[in-house]
Amino acid sequence: MRIDVVSIFPTIFDALEVSLLGKARQTGLLDVRVHDLRTYTHDRHRTVDDTPYGGGAGMVMKPEPWGLALDDIAGGADPRPVIVFPSPAGERFTQATARELSQASHLVFGCGRYEGIDERVFDYAAGLGEVRLLSLGDYVLNGGEVAVMAMIEAIGRLIPGVVGNPESLVEESHEDGLLEYPSFTKPAVWREREVPPVLLSGNHGAVATWRREQQLERTRQRRPDLLAD
Ligand code: ADE
Repeated sequence: MRIDVVSIFPTIFDALEVSLLGKARQTGLLDVRVHDLRTYTHDRHRTVDDTPYGGGAGMVMKPEPWGLALDDIAGGADPRPVIVFPSPAGERFTQATARELSQASHLVFGCGRYEGIDERVFDYAAGLGEVRLLSLGDYVLNGGEVAVMAMIEAIGRLIPGVVGNPESLVEESHEDGLLEYPSFTKPAVWREREVPPVLLSGNHGAVATWRREQQLERTRQRRPDLLAD
C-alpha cells in the first residue's frame, strides 16, 4: 500500500519508522511518503494560513498550497486514491473504517491545523480521488497529525504480513463488536493477586466460555453503546 501524508509538521511522522510499521516499510509492504505542505507555497514566509472570511477566531488553511500538493500527489494517480482529511467534524473512524481503508492501494492523508482547511479544498480533492472526512472521536486535537498517526497504525496493521501472527488480529477489541477479554501471564500469583483458575485448568471449552462471558460483561459495563448497536 502507498500512503502519502501532507502536513506542516512532517517530523511528527518520524515515529512511523519504528516497530511493526517501520518494519513493514523496510520490507516494502508499506510505502509511506511524508510531504511538507510549505514546499507548495511560493511566498517568502511560506504562508499556509489566513484569516477567515466572515470573521471569527483563529486562522484557516489557504487553498492554494493544498491545491498544488494534491495535484502533485494525487493528480493523475491510477487507481484514484482515497483522500482522507482528519476532522472533528468528520464521520467516526472505527475498526470497520480501518478494515475498509486497508483494502485501498493508495491513501492520501491531508493534515489540517488551526481552524481547519478552506472548504473548497475538499470539493477540489473529490475530483482527484474518493474524499473521506474522518474523526477519531468526540474531542478536539490541535491538528490532524496525531489522528492520522492513529489511523495509519490501525489501517497498516490490517495489511496482510504487517502483524506477524494474523491470529492476534482476530481476538481483539472491536473485531466482533465487543471489547477484548482480559489477559494474564506468569506468575500465577503476583502480589497476592491470582490468575482466574479457569485459565490454568487446561479445559479449552471452559476457557472459551469464560472469555466470552468476560467480553460481554466488560462491554456491558464500559461500552453499553456497543451492545445497543
Ligand atoms: N483534528 C482535530 N481533532 C480531530 C479529531 N477528533 N479527529 C480527527 N481529526 C481531528
